[in-house]
Amino acid sequence: MADHLMSTYKRLPIRFERGEGIWLWDTENRQYLDALSGIAVCGLGHAHPAVTQAICEQADKLVHTSNLYGIPLQERLADRLCALATMDRVFFSNSGAESNEAAIKIARLFGHSKGIDCPAIIVMENSFHGRTLATLTATGNRKVQAGFEPLVRGFIRVPYNDLEAIRTVAANKSDAVAVLVEPVQGEGGINIPDAGYLAGIRKICDENNWLMMLDEIQTGMGRTGKWFACQHENILPDVMTIAKALGNGVPIGACLASGQAADMMQPGSHGTTFGGNPLACSAALAVLDTMEQEKLVEQAARLGQQLLQGFSSALQDLQGITEIRGHGLMIGIELDRPCSELVGKALTQGLLINVTAERVVRLLPPLITTEKQADMIVAQVSDLIRGHLEG
Ligand SMILES: Cc1ncc(COP(=O)(O)O)c(C=O)c1O
Repeated sequence: MADHLMSTYKRLPIRFERGEGIWLWDTENRQYLDALSGIAVCGLGHAHPAVTQAICEQADKLVHTSNLYGIPLQERLADRLCALATMDRVFFSNSGAESNEAAIKIARLFGHSKGIDCPAIIVMENSFHGRTLATLTATGNRKVQAGFEPLVRGFIRVPYNDLEAIRTVAANKSDAVAVLVEPVQGEGGINIPDAGYLAGIRKICDENNWLMMLDEIQTGMGRTGKWFACQHENILPDVMTIAKALGNGVPIGACLASGQAADMMQPGSHGTTFGGNPLACSAALAVLDTMEQEKLVEQAARLGQQLLQGFSSALQDLQGITEIRGHGLMIGIELDRPCSELVGKALTQGLLINVTAERVVRLLPPLITTEKQADMIVAQVSDLIRGHLEG
């Protein structure tokens, strides 16, 4: 089927040709409801006219120059993001992993500025931060790391949602300089920490003069019902990474920083050819405008509640459900058994879902989903799970 592509992905036997809103059509013109948004990317759904128009108009003017020169759209986008996130400065990248690479490099520079020769970053079990060498090392999943040893030095791993473990590191390791954590673990299985976890990390970081670095690549851009998930707890990190939904599918990521962390990078410290080019920034600006105009952050919060309540009542009598959890439009339904075959079954019924951590059905529908479509998702996914558990 694809002899000249490297076998990096275990792909489903389907190819899409076009999309509109929450819907996709394959090459046979079959229609699918996309309850995954390209893994939290297409928050505005497919072919949103505002993004399409912005990209087309920008492509007609200028696609790329270089970061050798000033880029007005990049400056505008940085201003907007800093205002939304209450951060000071931004570095633009092309992906989530690259945003995290920038964060890791900031932590290293910060450590050296404190006179620490081998600065270490505290990272979590079950986390996911990307596939570059540093980010796969930060990732708490052996499957992602296996075969790529030697891994990068300078990471200390602790269990997620365990403040005491971080305090223990603080008491014993003088080379720690930062904590890198997802506000909700996405790939790890939609793991939602206890209320107060992020605030607790903030406090420990303040007490130890560490950087608090939040990976909001999956949780950011309105997905949890706030622009950024840390805003549920009124936390301001020192570093925040985003990507995925920022360009609604046009590749762009960002590493935002505040205070001392914002001053670490100097000319020559870091860079990337494509990062923040006019085309990508025009898409991201259109995403921000549309999210504000259509009040999509509030909509994500509302729809998330609707989906959670819907699943709770549709699945309440069913044996085999371990937990139904969600934060805005990040929904995880954990079963007591593996369920990866549900993905293929859903596909034959015209529905795109995902299973992560072997037994967690993960839903990440677009923020533009309507209430009626949310009801359709509840009905279809509940039927699938019922069939799997009772069949
Ligand atoms: C929390 C988190 N961090 C980082 C990444 C890596 O992003 P990318 O695939 O754009 O490199 C992902 C991707 O799933 C993610 O969910």
